[in-house]
Amino acid sequence: MFNILVANPKGGSGKTTLATNLAGYFAKLGGTVVLRDLDRQQSATRWIERRPVELPLIRPLNSKMKSQAIQSDFIITDSPAGLREEKLTDAVKEADCVIVPIQPSAFDIGATSNFLEVLIEEKAIRKNKTFVALVGMRVNSRTLSALSLAEFMAEADFEVLTYLRNSQAYVTAAEQGLSLFDMRRSAVEQDLIQWSPLIDWVMEMSASDK
Ligand SMILES: Nc1ncnc2c1ncn2[C@@H]1O[C@H](COP(=O)(O)OP(=O)(O)OP(=O)(O)O)[C@@H](O)[C@H]1O
Ligand SMILES: [Mg+2]
Repeated sequence: MFNILVANPKGGSGKTTLATNLAGYFAKLGGTVVLRDLDRQQSATRWIERRPVELPLIRPLNSKMKSQAIQSDFIITDSPAGLREEKLTDAVKEADCVIVPIQPSAFDIGATSNFLEVLIEEKAIRKNKTFVALVGMRVNSRTLSALSLAEFMAEADFEVLTYLRNSQAYVTAAEQGLSLFDMRRSAVEQDLIQWSPLIDWVMEMSASDK
């Protein structure tokens, strides 16, 4: 069982988008997948409800049930804005890895910078039991804000996996209960290329976890 936490206390940073797309990827791969929704807004749970029945199954879990009690190849946890203190510590302790989406804006970078300082103090992370990686979200290359984000991420203590562009495909997928991996390949080709370092990292991590 491999446990991925998607977290950034900054609202709207792209957590649910990352979590649902990761879930879609692993389901398509053929593994059993649980998408745990810790957010009271229940966006990830509603996304599963919209998911067409013919697509690979993703099981919802919206309780705060400890992940050790769940039987699944992959557990992806979507966390709420404002996750901090004991709730953050508990979620990090349970996770094999934490993926942090960050958008290219001064507000997002400021809030995430504080969060990364908190993360690095977490015992599970200090002891290399939980690994952290960063993903740039809604990044349009050749903009000044993308440059500022790249500079910030390069200075961070954690690995930078990829930058995902701003794309209507994510919005459409969210509406329809799909992940990019369930969509027509030609419509999301560019996006799938951007996903591949993130997928590779998670697969490598999950293989070394066995
Ligand atoms: N790469 C992207 N391209 C286009 N739209 C995106 C992208 N990533 C996220 N979005 C959109 O940005 C909005 C916020 O994303 P999302 O809901 O995933 O953030 P969140 O961190 O889960 O928010 P919250 O803190 O409220 O839970 C959503 O409308 C989503 O569809
Ligand atoms: Mg969310």
